[in-house]
Amino acid sequence: MERRIFAISLFLVAFFAPGILAGVCNMTGLWRNDLGSVLNLNEIENYKLKGKFLTAVEAAKGEAGSDRRARVIGIKNNGKEPTFSMSVAWDGGSITSWVGQCLMLEDGQQILRTTWLLRSPATNLLEDWKSTRIGQDTFRQINGDIPQGIHQKSVNL
Ligand SMILES: *[C@@H]1O[C@H](CO)[C@@H](O)[C@H](O)[C@H]1NC(C)=O
Repeated sequence: MERRIFAISLFLVAFFAPGILAGVCNMTGLWRNDLGSVLNLNEIENYKLKGKFLTAVEAAKGEAGSDRRARVIGIKNNGKEPTFSMSVAWDGGSITSWVGQCLMLEDGQQILRTTWLLRSPATNLLEDWKSTRIGQDTFRQINGDIPQGIHQKSVNL
């Protein structure tokens, strides 16, 4: 009887411990997307996101401002794999907004799967139709490593 309880307990621990250890998606930290842009995020009071974004690309020269860096503001849901949205207003006049979800991979890594809209300022109404781009982007956690091609100074947001 005792042995059986022990076996059942062991089974339960083996099955459920990894899930418990895996915990919930923690969006605080350094992230890099497919294009090499770097995002430094902080979760605040479990529903707000604040941070800095350093873009590796821009739709038109100068659109992201001279240092290609801007503040990020967002909002997130609670839960193990929360959905969120965040936005950046670039010095050059454009705006990017992402909606997405923080997802856990089986190896314990976290990713941010996002869809974004980028609005560039139209100089007049005739240009309005071509002023919004859409795309998809996955951010992966950097874990303190400095991404290649970006100087440490730049990542120190
Ligand atoms: C999330 O990660 C940050 C940075 O690693 C850490 O300081 C913070 O305590 C973590 N939050 C939770 C709820 O685990």
